[in-house]
Amino acid sequence: MADPMCGSGTTLVEGVLAGDNAIGLDANPLSVAISRTKCGLLRVDPGDLIDVYEHVRDALLDLRLGNRASSLIHFKKLDDRDRGYLHAWYSDQVLVDLDTIIQVISSTKEGALRDFLRISLSNILRKVSWQKSDDLRVRKEVRLDVEIDPIREFLEELGRSVRLLLAFLRQNEGTPVGSFQVIEGDARELQRYWEEWRGKADTVITSPPYATALPYIDTDRLSLCYLNLLTRPEHRKRDLLMVGNREVTERVRKEYWSFFLDHRNILPKSVVNLILHIERLNRQHEVGFRRHNLPALLSKYFFDMRQVLCGIFQLLKPGAEAFVVIGNNHTLAGGKRVEIGTAKFLGDIAETLGFKQGAPLAMQMLVSRDIFKRNAVGSESILRFRK
Ligand SMILES: C[S@@+](CC[C@H](N)C(=O)[O-])C[C@H]1O[C@@H](n2cnc3c(N)ncnc32)[C@H](O)[C@@H]1O
Repeated sequence: MADPMCGSGTTLVEGVLAGDNAIGLDANPLSVAISRTKCGLLRVDPGDLIDVYEHVRDALLDLRLGNRASSLIHFKKLDDRDRGYLHAWYSDQVLVDLDTIIQVISSTKEGALRDFLRISLSNILRKVSWQKSDDLRVRKEVRLDVEIDPIREFLEELGRSVRLLLAFLRQNEGTPVGSFQVIEGDARELQRYWEEWRGKADTVITSPPYATALPYIDTDRLSLCYLNLLTRPEHRKRDLLMVGNREVTERVRKEYWSFFLDHRNILPKSVVNLILHIERLNRQHEVGFRRHNLPALLSKYFFDMRQVLCGIFQLLKPGAEAFVVIGNNHTLAGGKRVEIGTAKFLGDIAETLGFKQGAPLAMQMLVSRDIFKRNAVGSESILRFRK
């Protein structure tokens, strides 16, 4: 099975557990790291997990009592611009503690367990920073009155994850698991990354971003920088690759819009009519920059998703199915509420590419990260496309 926008690897994990060969791709390096780690952990021996956990816990508890790292070995290896950026988000003491943790992690054997420790560290990076915790955006709130203790936070986070993982591994002991491969890449160019799998996938299961997507790269900035997964200067460029990206300059907006006007005939009429309708309503009223950008961004989203679906079509075996989890949206245009029926539109696009649509499966929205709740829509559906 394949997931070309695998995020944190939910579908890949299920694929591996079902004994499949699971392949995943994502443009966000943190998502790739999390997916690889989760799939890699499915083969770990519970005894090795306990040994590594105890080693790390004991080393950190010792260091916490006295000799925290005196030199910032990891931090000093980062790019200058990343260091400057991180200095703005962490106190000096927190940077020392984070270095202590990452030095202990680096002393463990390379492999899934070390990756697991790094992801556990990633999970606390927002909490020990001056980033407001209840906000998807990176907004700052310097808290000099609060004691921030990264080592304690890390050990709590790690302890929690180890307990969950151990329970799972013990229950699953003896069950054969499949293989996996997760790579970083742009889902709009699937054919290029997965040339070797062309016409070979039994199933694709994926949940693409919504039409007005979440700021994936932005939300993960601190982890991307601190774990040296993507340097600061690369963030903006990477944002532009993200399907559903909504951060555009006026110049880029104009480019998207003129591309839409020149190429709209390759999109289904339903999609073109909606975009033109929103543009017309907005033009007749004074609207802020987000609403002004929406028609161009929506057109970009549907062109991008068309390319992704085209890649999925080529990847599948004849007769095989793709399952696409998607939610609808709405916007206010010219004072009117306009529904953006993304699920229907993706179905229309899929049909123009040669897919046959089956009846969609209804599903209750699963919100795994509380801070996403505010941006969530009420329900999602699972679209079924057969090649
Ligand atoms: C809704 S999330 C997927 C969630 C996933 N099912 C999970 O279990 O975490 C959408 C994913 O699409 C990825 N994405 C956005 N644009 C992409 C692109 N051009 N190429 C590859 N992945 C992309 C995002 O990084 C994000 O991880």
